[in-house]
Amino acid sequence: MHDIIKAIERGRYKYMADLKAHCELSYSHSVSVAQTAYDIGKLLQLGTQGLEKLAMCALLHDIGKATLPHDILSKPTFLTHQEQTQMMDHAKIGGQLLCSLTFCEEIRAGVAHHHEKWDGTGYPDRLKGDEIPLLSRIIAVADVFCALIAHRPYRMPATPFIAVEYIILEAGRAFDRDVVRAFCEVLKKRPSSPALTAIPESLRLGKLTAHVRTGIVTCGGVDLYLTKKEYMLLLFFIQNRERYIKPEDLYQKVWNASMERNTNALRGAMKRLRKKIKGCGYTINNSRTEGYILERE
Ligand SMILES: [Fe+2]
Repeated sequence: MHDIIKAIERGRYKYMADLKAHCELSYSHSVSVAQTAYDIGKLLQLGTQGLEKLAMCALLHDIGKATLPHDILSKPTFLTHQEQTQMMDHAKIGGQLLCSLTFCEEIRAGVAHHHEKWDGTGYPDRLKGDEIPLLSRIIAVADVFCALIAHRPYRMPATPFIAVEYIILEAGRAFDRDVVRAFCEVLKKRPSSPALTAIPESLRLGKLTAHVRTGIVTCGGVDLYLTKKEYMLLLFFIQNRERYIKPEDLYQKVWNASMERNTNALRGAMKRLRKKIKGCGYTINNSRTEGYILERE
């Protein structure tokens, strides 16, 4: 850790070169997060100084990862419980690293708390709502968006559409609603953004209509009460109509996690979803070799 502190001390941005040398993926991710966070901050009218701090904080947000072993950072499969705990420490370690340097308190706190969640279920300190520094709340949204649409050694990238959907659904739970609102505005202002062009107002299949921006599904105009996971599953099926979907894809895209830990969750959600869409004339069939498919009954 001492070496990293020295490296950062050599120049304000020198640490970026060190992070790049240690893990190219974390480096490029930090740059993308900084760009998106900056755009959100601009929309939230942070002012010149605030934006400078935000950009700096976003560039540094994963600096704690420079202390993690290489094989964890580039592991091609899902992390073990122990490795996950080690990985989660990067936020706290990042804060500690900056504490010993001359970075201002706002940047240090922004880095240390970028994995807190609005409802208090995040880490390292389970801060809730406004207790979470604004810089962290902005970085959290940019971080998840950039991570989901990027390729990872252990999973395929999510489509921008699914990533934005996930963020909208998590507003008020994982993320600050105001920041999510600003994030959506940012995407609207990027005419060439694949995320924006990929988001339709609604998706239809027979009597089923998924109202994408509100996260509500109706059947012949009547609301179906779906949980977030059921909604994401159904949306995935509607998008991939008439195609079998491998369970691995569902675990990765809907649960963003491994198959082993979510087998029962998938079965349970699938069973409930089948029941809820029965009246719409659709069912989800399962073929042992090919996976799941949404079909007319
Ligand atoms: Fe992080």
